[in-house]
Amino acid sequence: MRAVQISELTGPDALTVVDAPEPDSTHMLTGSEGVVIDVQAAGVNFPDVLQTRGLYQMKPPTPFIPGAEVAGVVRSAPEGAGVAAGDRVAAVSLLGGMAEVAVAPDFLVFALPEELDMAQGAAMVFNYHTAYFSLKLRGRVEAGERVLVHGAAGGVGTATLQVAKGLGASTIAVVSSDEKERVAREAGADEVVRSDGDWKDAVKELGGADVIVDPVGGDRFTDSLRSLREGGRLVVVGFTGGAIPEVKVNRLLLNNLEVVGAGWGAYAMGKPDVNREIGAAIDALVRAGAVRPIIGARFGLEDAAAAFRVIDERGALGKVVLEVA
Ligand SMILES: NC(=O)c1ccc[n+]([C@@H]2O[C@H](COP(=O)([O-])OP(=O)(O)OC[C@H]3O[C@@H](n4cnc5c(N)ncnc54)[C@H](OP(=O)(O)O)[C@@H]3O)[C@@H](O)[C@H]2O)c1
Repeated sequence: MRAVQISELTGPDALTVVDAPEPDSTHMLTGSEGVVIDVQAAGVNFPDVLQTRGLYQMKPPTPFIPGAEVAGVVRSAPEGAGVAAGDRVAAVSLLGGMAEVAVAPDFLVFALPEELDMAQGAAMVFNYHTAYFSLKLRGRVEAGERVLVHGAAGGVGTATLQVAKGLGASTIAVVSSDEKERVAREAGADEVVRSDGDWKDAVKELGGADVIVDPVGGDRFTDSLRSLREGGRLVVVGFTGGAIPEVKVNRLLLNNLEVVGAGWGAYAMGKPDVNREIGAAIDALVRAGAVRPIIGARFGLEDAAAAFRVIDERGALGKVVLEVA
């Protein structure tokens, strides 16, 4: 089968496409009980880019096939998996997804709603499960509350805007360019403020936010705390901005605020019931029309390096996808 391979940890340019043996049903989380999928599309995520430099927490020995999530058609599944040969699915493979055949644990394989095509399927699990986990399970967002989303035109950002709207919240997007403003509005932003301007004062003028979802971190963290209403929750999702922020806890006391961590993978990986609960909630949001992944860029497998560079150079608009089949 054709597959993308990382053999040197020197960044996206070192990606190659190789002819690799097809996997059997073995997956690191399930032994031989994995679901084998004929891949049609593979999602490209920020951690994949970190992996090209050996900077992500999961560091497989080289050479390896990257690719944490896929959409495709089930080739084989163990009994009781909830999916069967021939089903259209979206799945988290963790590794090995950027190939014509991939394997995923049954509890991270979800029937792909007919409303979504394969590219959208490859955008479903990582970002939308993270968005729901961050907003609902960690941020406890309620209908009628206001959610602010940093990095709002990116993969996690667009998913978070759609899920927040689907949960009945109103939304403020923080973005860095006109093009990203357009994408954030397409994803459901009611208000958009610019990260290169005085966004904190703009948000205060709008009345502040109840929940902030932050995949960016860095120097906006303190201004995020200043932008929360009383009782607000700042949900920590990632650090694309580079620096890991520190918090002066007197700010939490003064306005009765919370800083909440949201590590979807760390929490959900070993908990099949949580995955099913989140999967059902996202399914309902797809059926209601709230969730429709925005695909900003599509590449063939052989152009994986270019796909990775889009994310590496801060250029992602919605999701970046490799079309495999
Ligand atoms: N906690 C979890 O469970 C979980 C799950 C999935 C992903 N994540 C993390 O969430 C983060 C976002 O992932 P993503 O897939 O949404 O990435 P993405 O599509 O590339 O979007 C990231 C956004 O971050 C903003 N940004 C600000 N400063 C940046 C910089 N110096 N370099 C790059 N981007 C910068 C950009 O928005 P502007 O240009 O508008 O500022 C960009 O749109 C990553 O750190 C990822 O590891 C966490």
